[in-house]
Amino acid sequence: MSPLSKGSKRTSQRCRIGAILTVLMMPSSLAAQTPPSNSAETFTEIAKVLTHPRCLNCHPRDDRPRQGPAEATRLHQMNVQRGHDDGGRTAQRCATCHHETNNAASGVPGAPHWRLAPLSMGWRGLSTAELCRTLKDTTKNGNRSLQALIEHFGTDHLVGWGWEPGAHRAPVPIPRADFVKLVEHWVQTGAECPSSQAGR
Ligand code: HEC
Ligand code: HEC
Repeated sequence: MSPLSKGSKRTSQRCRIGAILTVLMMPSSLAAQTPPSNSAETFTEIAKVLTHPRCLNCHPRDDRPRQGPAEATRLHQMNVQRGHDDGGRTAQRCATCHHETNNAASGVPGAPHWRLAPLSMGWRGLSTAELCRTLKDTTKNGNRSLQALIEHFGTDHLVGWGWEPGAHRAPVPIPRADFVKLVEHWVQTGAECPSSQAGR
């Protein structure tokens, strides 16, 4: 075999590997645009954002914000607590340190009206199924309809911060526009929740 034909054989092999890789990679890139058709499965995708530390750190089921990534999530420094209005105790108001925007110099995160989510909206430690039921429960979610939830996900500044968290923080995993489309799809297909076993 001449060196030339060897080379071209290698090239065609590389092409074939390239083609196989393209096919293998397609399902995940398609998944980004085409949500799962099943409503409960769609919620499982949505939960990947809701259970991300950028959201959970502010949605605890006790009185203390958390900080840091999931694998190292710890209680907020200096024993910060929610206080009577979720905005911190008198001497430690959230807004004293957290301003309207991220502080690039100090790394302190910021967004308008920074405060803890009310206790009824605590999600930390819930299973996917429980999270789904809590989110839909108008006695817990601030009396929001499903439509109002879609709007909150699409426009709220504290939610939006999860995509622009500043400093070294990882943003939530699905682009915001795609995430809102997933929620719309979930609502249009009946806003079903995963069963308790499947959702664990
Ligand atoms: C800085 C703290 C903070 C962060 C970060 C935060 N939230 Fe919240 N969240 C709140 C507060 C405060 C409320 C209550 C606002 C209200 O009822 O108007 C709330 C309410 C909500 C609600 C409506 C009520 C409910 O629980 O159903 C949703 C939905 C929500 N947040 C989603 C998210 C998502 C998704 C993220 C991450 C991308 C996130 N939040 C990050 C503080 C936060
Ligand atoms: C004395 C200043 C101070 C006060 C008061 C304070 N914080 Fe913080 N907070 C910080 C600093 C500094 C960080 C950044 C820590 C880091 O990333 O190393 C932080 C980080 C956070 C984070 C982590 C964000 C993430 O996902 O990485 C949350 C959530 C948070 N604060 C919520 C609150 C809430 C809610 C209040 C009021 C109840 C509050 N903080 C009061 C200084 C403060």
